[in-house]
This record gives sequence, C-alpha cells and structure tokens, in this order.
Amino acid sequence: MKTIVDKHELRELLGDWRREGEHVAIVPTMGNLHAGHISLVDVARDNAERVVVTVFVNPTQFGEGEDFDSYPRTIEKDTRRLKKASADVLFIPDVETVYPLGLENATRVIVPGLTQQLCGSFRPGHFDGVTTVVARLFALVQPDVAVFGEKDYQQQLVIRRMVEDLSLPISILSAPTVREEDGLAMSSRNSYLDAAERQKAPALFESLQAIAAQLAAGAREFADLEESGREALEQAGFEPEYVAIRSADDLGPAAADCPRYVVLAAAHLGGTRLIDNLVVDA
Ligand code: PAF
Repeated sequence: MKTIVDKHELRELLGDWRREGEHVAIVPTMGNLHAGHISLVDVARDNAERVVVTVFVNPTQFGEGEDFDSYPRTIEKDTRRLKKASADVLFIPDVETVYPLGLENATRVIVPGLTQQLCGSFRPGHFDGVTTVVARLFALVQPDVAVFGEKDYQQQLVIRRMVEDLSLPISILSAPTVREEDGLAMSSRNSYLDAAERQKAPALFESLQAIAAQLAAGAREFADLEESGREALEQAGFEPEYVAIRSADDLGPAAADCPRYVVLAAAHLGGTRLIDNLVVDA
C-alpha cells in the first residue's frame, strides 16, 4: 500500500490505473479506523480493481464547541490496518490540498431539505461540510465507486442525493453497520466513553430494537413509539436529541403504508454524542 499526501502524485498513479482500464473505489474516512471502516474497504475491494482510502479530519463539518481538535488522529495504527485490508492507497491530503482557497473562500456544495432535519437540525451546517468535502475528495480521486457506512444513515442519503443531482458518474454503495458483541455500533467516537458509559452504551441500539420489534408487529402509533424510545434512553442515562421513525427511502414522515421504515436516534452519553439506526421492512 502506498501512502500519498500530494495530489499530483495521486493523479499520476490514477492515470496509470486508468490506462490499464482499472476501476477505482474510494472509501472516505476521518481515520481512527475500526472494523466498520474495514468492512467498507472490503466492499470497495469487491467492486473495483483499485481502492483508495482517504483520511482527512474535515474542519468544515464540525460546529463550534464540537470535537474537531480532540478527534482521535491515529495515522500509524490506521496505516497498519489498511495494509492488512489490502487497500492500494492511503491518501492523507492536508487542508491546503482539500481547500486551496482556504476555508472561508471555499466553494461549497449544499444539499437543501434533507440536511435540515434530524442530525442536521442539531448540528447546523454539518452536512454542508460533509457534502463539500466529499465533493472535493471525489474531484481529487475521480472514483468510479464510493462506499459509505449505513451507520451514518442520513449522511449516505444526502451523498446519494448530491451525486444524483450533480449527475456525478459515481456509484454510491453502502455497507451495513458493524456492531460490538453487545450491539453498540462501532464508531470512532466510542473511544471517548469511559468504562461506566461504555456499559450503558448498548441501550441506544436496544431502544431502536424495541421500536423496530413493535413496528414489525404492526404498531403504527409513530409518535408514541418515538416517545417510548426517548424515555428508555433517558432511563438508561442518555440525553436524547431525537428518536425518529421515518420512511427509509427518503427520510420523509412515516406513514402507515411505508414499505420500509428507519428508526434513527442521536443521544449524548456524558460528553459523547452517539448515533444509530435500524431499518425495518414493514
Ligand atoms: O463519515 C465520515 O467519516 C465523514 O463524514 C466523511 C464522509 C469521511 C466526510 O468527512
């Protein structure tokens, strides 16, 4: 595996691959890689001859008071994991490469509507930062395929919308959430949890499972189910931001005739914000 910082060096290598008729998959990450990320690399490897993993902690998707400065940067460990996972390139651009005109003057890509609800309403501007950086990484890597995790359910829908609206010739694939044995969704931010919080953390997934079981059994009192989820989270020591049941296809309001629902939650456990979701076939 090659580690590349310079965009010209990347371009040269991409050119060589293209001349050989090889397809390129990108796995954009912010590093501190865990088994969930490696599952994305596996999907990428199954869908293209070449795999580029990017590690870039993107300043524009963090709000004021959020964890940009303390976000775990573990590039040596990440490099070892990616070598084992047979990625072809680890691309670690610096901020000047991704934002040549600086953060203030950067051209932005904004997907309205879908980004202004759920996580977007608690983290204003977050998804604008995500779509802006993903569009830039796409421009730098020019991939045929891009892989994102279903754990960030809203994010992957927003990126699909962006790609469709801009007619970008990139197939967006998503990979299922990878969980710890007790059900906690793997996340780079889990490392913020202390031992007591780590013990409580699976309650997030359990609250989603309880709602999903009721939906699967035919319950359609969406507001009551959401409220029961919030209460369960509060009892488990979380401060919920939202528990929401939506149409899985577009995050539209849940209706009795939706073919697929998604139950989503975001909640704080001590100083850590956790998110999770579960799709339910009606
Ligand atoms: O999901 C993430 O880690 C980030 O939001 C992404 C897609 C790498 C953009 O910075």
